[in-house]
Amino acid sequence: MSITAITVAAYVIASLLFILSLAGLSKHESAKSGLTYGIVGMAIALVATVVLVLKTIFDLDSLDLKWVPIVLMFAAIVIGAAVGLWRAKIVEMTGMPELIALLHSFVGLAAVLIGWNGAIEGFDAAGVLPENIRSLTNIHEAEIAIGIFIGAVTLTGSIVANLKLSAKIKSAPLMLPGKNFINVGSLVVFFVLTGFYVAMDTHANQTASYIMLAVITALALFLGWHLVASIGGGDMPVVISMLNSYSGWAAAASGFLLGNDLLIVTGALVGSSGAYLSYIMCKAMNRSFISVIAGGFGIEAGPADDTDYGEHREIQADAAAELLAGASSVVITPGYGMAVAQAQYPVADLTSKLRAKGIDVRFGIHPVAGRLPGHMNVLLAEAKVPYDIVLELDEINDDLAETDVVLVIGANDTVNPAAAEDPGSPIAGMPVLEVWNAKDVIVFKRSMAAGYAGVQNPLFFRDNTQMLFGDAKDRVEDIIAAL
Ligand code: TAP
Repeated sequence: MSITAITVAAYVIASLLFILSLAGLSKHESAKSGLTYGIVGMAIALVATVVLVLKTIFDLDSLDLKWVPIVLMFAAIVIGAAVGLWRAKIVEMTGMPELIALLHSFVGLAAVLIGWNGAIEGFDAAGVLPENIRSLTNIHEAEIAIGIFIGAVTLTGSIVANLKLSAKIKSAPLMLPGKNFINVGSLVVFFVLTGFYVAMDTHANQTASYIMLAVITALALFLGWHLVASIGGGDMPVVISMLNSYSGWAAAASGFLLGNDLLIVTGALVGSSGAYLSYIMCKAMNRSFISVIAGGFGIEAGPADDTDYGEHREIQADAAAELLAGASSVVITPGYGMAVAQAQYPVADLTSKLRAKGIDVRFGIHPVAGRLPGHMNVLLAEAKVPYDIVLELDEINDDLAETDVVLVIGANDTVNPAAAEDPGSPIAGMPVLEVWNAKDVIVFKRSMAAGYAGVQNPLFFRDNTQMLFGDAKDRVEDIIAAL
């Protein structure tokens, strides 16, 4: 069997492993095996690609210094793997979305570079298609323009997402006048320019074709920045999965350019699963999918909230422990603050102590609690909280009215009554955990500051709510001590 045939077989196996990986990752119980399939698939894909590249290099009669590309390739692999290992080792769970956004930007950058490489190398030198099929040149040029466009949108969009998530820039939506016109206009200009680029004889008009591509690149870089900058903090989870989807399409476009089937399959898998995840999240948050992927299309900034909600009440840890000891049902709704404080271990401890006293303790998990999908579930599983008491929003919301005490641990936007009651709120319509219906609510946070969406939370001023200020981990430990 030839080396090429073996690599094709390896690509098919890797593709199947990627599909099994996605299927495995969709459930808690099978997530670990899903991850293993993905790692094995990626290892096979990497080895097969390296072999294929080595074969191509050795087959090239024209290349005298064959060791140069080989050294470059292995240097890139070693440096990339070292940086990847280092980042993955030091990243905190709470920093995961930022890291993912940054990784998406690399995919975007790679797609832009591959696109430009395709254009500079030229159709024949790239060796993608046989010389006699000249009519396919147009397809090749369309692939270049589309690949660069999707890649550049992903690149700047992901950088803005990274900056917003790491709070290096404000998470509030950028509201340029005529923002929808800017987005739609940029798309129209891209299609027109691509039409010209494909129609022109790029071999005869090299300089003009480069200028055209440079304009397409600049336009896409601008559009990526503007699309994500226009999306408000509360919709950020959708943006991450949307950029995940874009990075998949960018990889698929690069696959077409390089004639690499595995890249096309993998890119399509990432692209479609990311798009579907964005759709599910939009449904969970009652957001219009089209409006979010079009950079907040149709969403206008609400008026500034200067409502006077009155005074809040405070509670101390020993009084909270007393309240809990007298309860027969307790629901814990964790949020981003539990992750920041790393409070999941004392929370698990508190849970088992209360359960040992015969108190019914359950968890209510909002679909976007934390900073990435499934964030809270992962933390609670890590602290060995039993799966069967960890319930989704839909499963627990109706029971909250019959609950004695709700502990809101580092959650804010996901328990904000304004989403349900104030049509003018920027998070209006987003389903929330209706904790205010419980008999007593204790909110763990460090200050009266707003949550990620930057919206004031009227829950803190309700008669049945008491604030327990301080770091969530310390306060939960205090309650355990008092119990
Ligand atoms: P947030 O609304 O961000 O609220 C977190 C709360 O935790 C804050 O009020 C903060 O108040 C408190 N906090 C922070 N550190 C703390 C600590 N050490 N101890 C105690 N409290 C602490 O969180 P949420 O309710 O989980 O909502 C998630 C938000 O993030 C939503 O707006 C969602 O759209 C967005 N988002 C979600 C995702 C995904 S996919 N889940 C991705 C990106 C963005 P203090 O500062 O006063 O302590």
